[in-house]
Amino acid sequence: MALVEGTGISKRYGGIVALDDVSVAVERGEAVGLVGPNGAGKTTLFDCLNGVRHFDSGEVRFEGRRIDRMPVYERARLGIGRTFQRLELFAGMSPREHLMVAERVHRADGRLWKDLIGRGRARTPVARVEELLVELGLDEVADDPIESLSHGHGRLVELGRALVQDPLLLLLDEPSSGLDTREAAGFAAVLLEVRARRETAMLLVEHDLDFVGRVVERTYVLDFGKMIGSGRVDDVLADPVVRRAYLGEVT
Ligand SMILES: Nc1ncnc2c1ncn2[C@@H]1O[C@H](COP(=O)(O)OP(=O)(O)O)[C@@H](O)[C@H]1O
Ligand SMILES: [Mg+2]
Repeated sequence: MALVEGTGISKRYGGIVALDDVSVAVERGEAVGLVGPNGAGKTTLFDCLNGVRHFDSGEVRFEGRRIDRMPVYERARLGIGRTFQRLELFAGMSPREHLMVAERVHRADGRLWKDLIGRGRARTPVARVEELLVELGLDEVADDPIESLSHGHGRLVELGRALVQDPLLLLLDEPSSGLDTREAAGFAAVLLEVRARRETAMLLVEHDLDFVGRVVERTYVLDFGKMIGSGRVDDVLADPVVRRAYLGEVT
């Protein structure tokens, strides 16, 4: 059984068919890409999976269970974490404060009892946040105001905020956007480490094919709302149909 599975998803915005009978699946612990040119429908599909958007037809299952009508916060509780295409961070707050707030929200969500009872997580909230700051390499800037930090650090804070929930599945929408080449390489390395350490499954929505190739084994390709390819990254990128879709965008 797949960890998350979207089947036959279609979504229109007025006359625009943003998704046309699209299916995706991510297995437990697997990192999968979702690539495609601008306007292909990537963010729309992403939002159908995380519950931000309703679709016209199709279904979404998490661990076999239908979640199409489940609100975003309940999906988060099941173990679906996400980051945003545009950074959604708060000026005046430090990385540590961002993570503390996320940790508090997460605990207020009822997981406190599960954590205390079942999962033997004896660490305090403060200790968990400190660990995460170190894991993401944010410890040296932990108390700086967010607006004084680089975009790369901002991305890491966003990632940390999602990881506070210990998600089974991490949905990332264009994490490389706004990053320079060095920052993007650094972020890809952090994602690989996070996966190695936590076995978090990831669906990586990306425009940047190089970035995707560093992080995932397998990718889907969307173009004009249709899934035009899927498979190993190298094979997909060698496919003439995919190359044509990206023509002018791939060097
Ligand atoms: N809220 C919306 N209202 C109308 N059209 C939209 C909306 N969001 C996206 N679209 C359109 O749907 C298509 C897919 O967009 P999107 O999912 O954002 O693609 P991507 O993330 O791959 O760039 C595009 O043609 C876009 O203009
Ligand atoms: Mg998008």
